[in-house]
Order: sequence, then structure tokens, then C-alpha cells
Amino acid sequence: MERTSRPEQLAANSAGLARAATLLREGGLVAVPTETVYGLTARADRDESVAAIYRAKGRPSFNPLIVHIADLEAAQRIARFDARALALAAAFWPGALTMVLPLKEGAAIASAVTAGLPTVALRCPAHPIMRDVIVESGLPLAGPSANRSGGVSPTTAAHVVASLGDRIDAVVDGGACEAGLESTIVALREDGRWQVLRPGPIPVARIRDVLGTEPDAVTSHEIEAPGQLASHYAPGKPVRLDAREAGADEFHIGFGPVEGHVSLSPSGDLAEAASRLYALLHESATSELPRVAVAPVPSEGIGAAINDRLRRAAA
Ligand code: TXA
Ligand code: MG
Repeated sequence: MERTSRPEQLAANSAGLARAATLLREGGLVAVPTETVYGLTARADRDESVAAIYRAKGRPSFNPLIVHIADLEAAQRIARFDARALALAAAFWPGALTMVLPLKEGAAIASAVTAGLPTVALRCPAHPIMRDVIVESGLPLAGPSANRSGGVSPTTAAHVVASLGDRIDAVVDGGACEAGLESTIVALREDGRWQVLRPGPIPVARIRDVLGTEPDAVTSHEIEAPGQLASHYAPGKPVRLDAREAGADEFHIGFGPVEGHVSLSPSGDLAEAASRLYALLHESATSELPRVAVAPVPSEGIGAAINDRLRRAAA
């Protein structure tokens, strides 16, 4: 692969997308915007390219990756879909839902993707740039969030470059991500149970409405998604929650009536707050103030996912 200055910054036009697809087919690493966060993509059918993702992120190799496909047909070549999985795909794909399903025997997925699990996490993204890159490359793409392991997920191309820099081949600049929080992850078990492995932009209540049953709790020995582990989203300094006021040494992130140095959403809009959360956590990390305080955020709708990430950032 030719080595120009890294990472190549690609525009979201046909030349940029064609270049991204070429780099991916050659086994390279390309950061691509999705409607949730920027993903660090590589072809999911080759162990070497998947290993490069783990290396660039400094990610433990027991932490499996999401595979992104453009449609249900491609998904069904990789995993076994039962009636529940088909219903969820019909309701929420393309979109911010990841399903953990039984891996199909003989699926062309590198074992590094699933970290040896008998299941695979699949997502059909809605973002037009990510969809174009999948279609142009003609490949299922493994893609974790495009940040170093344990850091705050990137919602702009600049975040990606700051975190991964020359460890990756290219980044496609598609502006800021709309949802700003990683996808909701649901595991559908073969015994009929289902579990929420990570809350996200699609509220659990909507999934429950489609499935018609309550989710089962995830027991501690079943923790498979390290996004469930504490301290996964830490900005690298102490974070205090439910802070209506801030001390002199605290960078204050406001919401609604709590003004702060910056605000998740001055009007108290939860979707806006979700889309700005990681950008403001990045900003808090670069602030000279040694601590971070965050205003209370209500837990309804996507607020549940916002509070999930905030609790981990504060852990
Ligand atoms: O919105 C998103 O989901 C973004 C964009 C890029 O699609 N991706 C993302 O990937 O957040 P990542 O790697 O940061 O989080 C994926 C989570 C991890 O916590 C991983 O442990 C879990 O999915 N996961 C992947 N495969 C799994 C499996 N077979 N069983 C259980 N958990 C799995
Ligand atoms: Mg991540």
C-alpha cells in the first residue's frame, strides 16, 4: 500500500469513497462516519486486517467487534436469524441497533472478529457514507468506535485523527455524527431469552414492544460487551455527576437550566444532548481544569443511554 501522509483525509465524494473502498479491499484501516459514532473499519473476512484494528486501538483481543453490512441478505449470510431477529431487523434496520446472534457455520468472518465466541454482533447502519463504503468495498466491515481502547468515542473526523493519528490509513470526513452515542446492543439467545448488552439511541421500550417480552438481566459471568464495563468512556480526569453547581476547579457541563461552561443542550433536548455528549467529554479532557462536573440529565428515552455513559465516565 502506498504510504502518503497518514491518515489520508478523504472527502465524502465519489473519489473519496472509491479510495476508502480500495484501501479496505487491500486490508487497510479506514475510519468512517456512521449515524452513531465514527467507526474504525477493516474487512471482516481476514484475520490480518482485523488484527490491525486491535493493534491500532490497543484493544484487548477478547473484546469482539461489530460487523457492518448493507442489508438483511448480507446479514443472513453471517448469522442465523429467527423470527425475533427478523422482526427487529424489519423494525430498526437500517439504524442504530446491533444484534448479537448465533454465528452461521461457514460464515466468511475472521475468527478475530468474534474473539472465538459462537455469536456475532451485526449492524446495518443508516448513514449514507458508511452504507456507500460497505457497498463499494463489497465486504462486510468490522468496525469498533474509532478511538484508542478505553477512550471517549469520536463523533467528528478531528476526534479520530487526535486519537488514532497515523495508526490508521484514512478517515472519511462526514462531519459530526447525528446520534452521537453507540448503537443499542441486544443479544437474542437461542433459548428464547433476550438481553440488553448496551443501551443506546434505540430505547429498550421500543425493542420490548416488538418482541413482546421483557429482557433478561445480564449476569456478571455473561459480561461479553466491555462497553458494559466501568470506566470505558473516561475523559482521564475525575467526573462528578448530578452537579447543579460546579467548584472553581471543575469544568462544568450543563444541561437545560444548568448553564455550565458548555451545555449538552440549553433547551433541555435529550437528542441534542446525546449528539453532543462525547464532543463535550473530549472538550473537558483538554480543558485546563482538573475535574469535570456534569449537570443532571433525565433518564427517559435516550436519556437512559446518556446516563449509562455518564456513570461509566464517572466510575
Ligand atoms: O454504534 C456502534 O455500535 C459503533 C459504530 C461504529 O457501529 N460501534 C461500536 O463498536 O460501538 P465497539 O467495538 O466500540 O462496541 C461493540 C460492542 C463491544 O462492547 C463488544 O464487546 C460487543 O459490542 N460485542 C461485539 N460482538 C459481541 C458478541 N458476539 N457478543 C457480545 N458482545 C459483543
Ligand atoms: Mg467503543
